[in-house]
Amino acid sequence: MVCTKNTENNNLPRRQVLNIPAVVYGKTSAQLKEQYGVNELVLMNCNENPLGSSPLAIKAIQEEALNINRYPESGSSDLRQKLANHYGIEREMVLCSNGGDNIITTLMQTFLDEGDELVVGHPSFFVYGHTSGIMGAKLIKVPLKDYTYDLAAILQAVTPKTKMVIICNPNNPTSTILRQKEVDEFIAVLPQDCLVVFDEAYREFVEDKNYPDSLKYVKEDKNVLIIRTFSKLYGLAGLRIGYCLAPQKVMTYMARVVETFPVNRLAQVAAMAALDDKNFVTKVKAANALGKAYLIDELAKLGMKTAPAYANFIFTDTGMDSIKLVKDLEKRGILIRPAVSWGFPTCVRISIGTQAENEKLVKAIQEIKDEI
Ligand SMILES: Cc1ncc(COP(=O)(O)O)c(C=O)c1O
Repeated sequence: MVCTKNTENNNLPRRQVLNIPAVVYGKTSAQLKEQYGVNELVLMNCNENPLGSSPLAIKAIQEEALNINRYPESGSSDLRQKLANHYGIEREMVLCSNGGDNIITTLMQTFLDEGDELVVGHPSFFVYGHTSGIMGAKLIKVPLKDYTYDLAAILQAVTPKTKMVIICNPNNPTSTILRQKEVDEFIAVLPQDCLVVFDEAYREFVEDKNYPDSLKYVKEDKNVLIIRTFSKLYGLAGLRIGYCLAPQKVMTYMARVVETFPVNRLAQVAAMAALDDKNFVTKVKAANALGKAYLIDELAKLGMKTAPAYANFIFTDTGMDSIKLVKDLEKRGILIRPAVSWGFPTCVRISIGTQAENEKLVKAIQEIKDEI
């Protein structure tokens, strides 16, 4: 027998993958506790929900646990219908997936070809660059202005090759927002064949009455897609459940690419229960608003200035070497994110914690400053 296949370079991946660094996994909580010699960690580095998860969601998971020998309902129909009713749109305009990250993957697999351009603000959510890179698309990073997406500069960056613009609102890592009027003006002048993606992972925390109603664009059949998640407000980050809302002309293509079983059984029932959990939602929003105001005030007393913050995290200029500050906090078991890799060497991103955690952080920063 003769095999004519040339086996040279047989195990090389797609060309684009060669340019992508491997994902670096963080240490486990147990490893970190051992490393810092602490019993408890204060996790203020991942924008998670410090109050736990919706109790209704937990109850729904417990009840559904007996059915996990069965595959999940593949189209998440009940959850999609519930979300569709919630937003007053058709079920076909909702797609559920394994977290907002997985929506981004499906979105980019659907729309980005090699050589297409994707325009985003910088710094913004790192996943945009990673996933578009895998597709071979060109990422155009437009610097933020005053920590905020700069729509005028984004328009300047749009070329005939621009396939997609992502607006992260509130922006991760800066927690700033764009408002209705400026977004309306932007949508009006952007070429219509350019897909506008609103990443609204943190939208439920925003209290500003001029925050854009992006759903309006979906209902008007504009070329838009909105990303939302159950990870933040509802405290279901560990379950991995997110969704997107878009007109049918966009969804018709997404539906060709999405995995067969992207959302597991437990996540589907938990998300439906969480949507009804008004008590939890009210409690989380109130605690977040109080915690955020407390942290901004206390850090200001320490001479640190925070960018206008609308999400469940703040972006603060500490005036110090942020890597050193973060390391000193880690020694006390407190985790926050330095902004060095985002181009802000003295800034940090801090997720709002419980009141006790917020107080512990402020006290620790005070001590570290006193030591200098
Ligand atoms: C801006 C933004 N979009 C999307 C996501 C994805 O969220 P998840 O995959 O947990 O639903 C995150 C997570 O941190 C985020 O910060």
